[in-house]
Amino acid sequence: MARVLVTRRLPDGGLEPLERAGHELVARADDRPFTHDELVAAAPDVDAIVCLLTDRIDRDVLSAGAGAGRLRVVANVAVGYDNIDVAAATELGIAVCNTPGVLDETTADLAFLLILAASRLAHDAEADLRAGRWSGWGIMQYLGRDVHAATLGLVGYGRIGKAVARRAAGFGMSVLHHTRHDTGMAGWAGDLDRMLAEADIVSMHVPLTDATRHLIGARELGLMRSTAVLVNTARGPVVDEEALAIALEDDTIFAAGLDVFEREPEVHPRLLAAPRAVVLPHIGSATTATRTRMAVVAGEAVRAVLAGETPANRVTPA
Ligand code: GLV
Repeated sequence: MARVLVTRRLPDGGLEPLERAGHELVARADDRPFTHDELVAAAPDVDAIVCLLTDRIDRDVLSAGAGAGRLRVVANVAVGYDNIDVAAATELGIAVCNTPGVLDETTADLAFLLILAASRLAHDAEADLRAGRWSGWGIMQYLGRDVHAATLGLVGYGRIGKAVARRAAGFGMSVLHHTRHDTGMAGWAGDLDRMLAEADIVSMHVPLTDATRHLIGARELGLMRSTAVLVNTARGPVVDEEALAIALEDDTIFAAGLDVFEREPEVHPRLLAAPRAVVLPHIGSATTATRTRMAVVAGEAVRAVLAGETPANRVTPA
């Protein structure tokens, strides 16, 4: 029987694979987040950690676990794992797992929600209505941009990007996708600058890495159409938040829809005050069914590693 630290409360049933295998789950009754120091202190006493993207699992945490000769696996209940030092884990022989494949459709739904809401100025219109500022139907009010038949530029074309492309087909959109390597698929745009200049809507679907940090900054926003909409459901730091706020203030682009931010839970005050921005608190995968599946996938990965198996969702080399 192994000891598994579960850093936060998970959806009901999420930890079943670990419970069935008879492992001991260590969790806080009050769901208080572990501070970084508390994670470092807890790591030596467990064989595995099930964590969230809000937990920073850096070299200190991993070394504390490896130093005690106990920690074997860290499973992030998320598809993105930029909160974990994967290089350090690899070096220390600790497996890192994520939850790919189970949240694509739910996250793509949310990306489309932001595409629609930002393009049609839904947030500004609703805010006016709720605040009693709506004086009745007006032919010149809340003039947005059409989503149907628009050109959608996807930055990144993994599972979530492809799920967004499938939805776009139903809206009669032309879909381009930018990846560094030729996908060989219709719509591949090798030149990001060119795609940014052509797209009516740009949607981000890349993981956060050194190569994608601030992939969209002032220069890239300047290449986009003044009628364009930028959507980010990937990771906040792939877009320079201050540059985006300025681009909205200056009408460099038309609107933005964001589910992720550079320093969550903080949002750049200038972005919060910027016009035509729809902002959501990182809810891309937030449905009961999907969040439960994510927890099960993470739990199952931990069970597998502890049983000496190599799960397909292991991101460190076997
Ligand atoms: C959510 O942002 C995830 O990476 O799963």
